[in-house]
Amino acid sequence: MATVLITGISGFIGSSLARGLLAEGASVRGIDNLCTGNLENLEDIRTRIDLRRADILDIGAINDACDGIDYVFHQAAIPSVPKSVVDPMGTNGPNLNGTLTVLEAARKAGVRRLMYAASSAAYGDSPELPKTETMLPAPISPYAVQKLAGEHYLASYTRVFGLETVALRYFNIFGPRQDPTSQYSGVLARFISLMCQGETPTIFGDGSTSRDFTYIDNVVHANMMVAKTSAPVAGKVFNIATGKRITLLEAYQEIKQITGYSGTVQFKPEREGDIRHSLADISLAQSVFGYRVVAGFREGLEKTIEYYRQTSPQAIAAL
Ligand SMILES: NC(=O)c1ccc[n+]([C@@H]2O[C@H](COP(=O)([O-])OP(=O)(O)OC[C@H]3O[C@@H](n4cnc5c(N)ncnc54)[C@H](O)[C@@H]3O)[C@@H](O)[C@H]2O)c1
Repeated sequence: MATVLITGISGFIGSSLARGLLAEGASVRGIDNLCTGNLENLEDIRTRIDLRRADILDIGAINDACDGIDYVFHQAAIPSVPKSVVDPMGTNGPNLNGTLTVLEAARKAGVRRLMYAASSAAYGDSPELPKTETMLPAPISPYAVQKLAGEHYLASYTRVFGLETVALRYFNIFGPRQDPTSQYSGVLARFISLMCQGETPTIFGDGSTSRDFTYIDNVVHANMMVAKTSAPVAGKVFNIATGKRITLLEAYQEIKQITGYSGTVQFKPEREGDIRHSLADISLAQSVFGYRVVAGFREGLEKTIEYYRQTSPQAIAAL
């Protein structure tokens, strides 16, 4: 049975990974400083994990956490473009120096493989679609630069120190436990939470903006597949998405259909710097380590909406 470390375990993706890995029989240790994460995300599994409240910049705590670990799933970060614009230096600490700290501790501890939550933000706003891993990155925001620089550190640690690292570039992940209350949260979490409470969502632009919206189960599946594959993945970068794009208007209409929301949507001018379209080529992950889309957009929406309904029953009453 493998022993794994998840950084950012109290967050949306980290807590989902924890459930997936526990279900596979792994022994799970987690680190989080709770800056954006929430202990409620771990409520039902809290007694089954070794949870440590610590900052990934604390090398002593990370060294201890890596002791005896086979696989590291490094998810901790401040995952926000706007926050990185307001505070480039403050976010560089956790997003880049934090990654370096985790790499260093993993290397010293002799960890077998480290998986890293990279971001599609690395591609920037080049109009070319779909995005393939061989494209030249063109990060725009400090957040995108920090996440991309982390990828380069991973590749360096593989080449220089022989630590097996893999960067998974996530594209617009959504699902249960994503925080809908923050102004920085994902658009689907905001739409679902507002519409479940009978409140009007806002679309910036005419609604034709599109994204490769990816349900969380696909991310959990990708991480587990890449951790155990015997294919040569060390030092490589893979897109993790669905290979399909959905416009904001389509997403709104599907949520409306599932929730029974009877209100309208409001349109506001497009925001400066918003990327128009995003779509991944996922063939590399499919061919190298057997990644596949385990849950599509509609199924993901239905599960996410069900989760919000169960966790906030007042939402149903508002419909
Ligand atoms: N959600 C997406 O669509 C998406 C897309 C691309 C990449 N990512 C990446 O996936 C990862 C997880 O994102 P998420 O959506 O689950 O966000 P999240 O905010 O829900 O989770 C991040 C977790 O990291 C923890 N954390 C932050 N700084 C820390 C520090 N210094 N020390 C210890 N813990 C710290 C937070 O408390 C939180 O629990 C991030 O690295 C993010 O950049 C997410």
